[in-house]
Amino acid sequence: MEPQILEILAFSLQIGIANDAWIAALESGKVLYFPSIAFTPLPEERSLFTPAIRDPKARNISLDAQGVLKGASGDEVRQAALAAMIERFRAQAKLLIASLFPHYTNGLRLAPTSFRPTLVETRKQSLRADDRQLHIDAFPSRPNRGERLLRVFSNVNPDGIPRVWRVGEQFKEVAQRFLPQVKAYSPWQAKALHALHITKSLRSEYDHLMLQLHDAMKSDADYQKNAPQVRFSFPTGSTWVCFSDQTSHAVMSGQYLFEQTLQLPVAHQYNPDSSPLAILTRLTGRALVPE
Ligand code: SIN
Ligand code: FE
Repeated sequence: MEPQILEILAFSLQIGIANDAWIAALESGKVLYFPSIAFTPLPEERSLFTPAIRDPKARNISLDAQGVLKGASGDEVRQAALAAMIERFRAQAKLLIASLFPHYTNGLRLAPTSFRPTLVETRKQSLRADDRQLHIDAFPSRPNRGERLLRVFSNVNPDGIPRVWRVGEQFKEVAQRFLPQVKAYSPWQAKALHALHITKSLRSEYDHLMLQLHDAMKSDADYQKNAPQVRFSFPTGSTWVCFSDQTSHAVMSGQYLFEQTLQLPVAHQYNPDSSPLAILTRLTGRALVPE
C-alpha cells in the first residue's frame, strides 16, 4: 500500500501560499501530519482535563457553530472556561486550514468543534458507533449531498499519551470492495426518514451509499483484520488533517483530543474529481444527488 500519511516537518503559517503536493495528498485521501503544530492549553486549564468534564449522557463535548457548548458537565464558570479553550482551538484550526488551502476559504462552513476527554480503549458502544473499527465518516441524521468533511485533530494529552490510529486503503478501493454488497437506495424510505425527522433533510443516494459503506466496513471483522492498513501514533503536541469522509480511519487508543470539522462543497476543491461523490458517481454510472 502506498503511504497514507504525509509528514510535514517544516511549516510556517503563511496565508495564501499553497503547497501543491500537500493539497494533492489531502485530496487523494491522505492524512497530513504536522508533528510540531501543537495546541497548548493554559496552565489554569489543566483542571478541565478529566473524563468527568463530559456529561455521561453525551457522546462528545462540542461547541457548535453558534458558540453554544454541548455535552459538558460542571457549573457555569467551568463550562465558560471549557468553551473558551475549545474556541481557541477552533481559531487555530481555522487559521491552519486558511493557510494550507486558500482556495477553500470562501466555501468552508464551520461545523462543531469537539473536545474528547474519554479514554478510547475502554469505551463501550455499538459496533456502528465504534470508531475503533476502520470506517469513513458519514452522518446518519445529517445528509450532506456530497459536501466534504474536512477535519483537524490535535492530541492534547497532558501525560504524553499518543493517539493511535489505523489508516486504511484508498476510498476507491473501499468503494469497489463494498458497493456490490450494499442495499439499494429507496427514495420512499428516504422520504419516510425525513418525514419522521430521523434525518434533518432528504437523504440522497450519495448519503445512503456513504452510510452503507461506513456500516459495511465496520461490521466486516475479516476486513478489519486483513484490509491494507497502517498503524500510526500521533504524539501529544501534534496536529493532523484529513478528509474523514474519504480517509479510511480507526482510533485505537488515546485520551484528550480536539477536533474541528469544516464542511466544503465539492466545487471548492482544487480537484473535485477526487471527491467521494465523483468516485461513487463514476463507479455507479449515475447521478447520486438531486440537481
Ligand atoms: C474518528 O473520527 O473516527 C475518531 C477519531 C478520534 O477520536 O481520534
Ligand atoms: Fe471517524
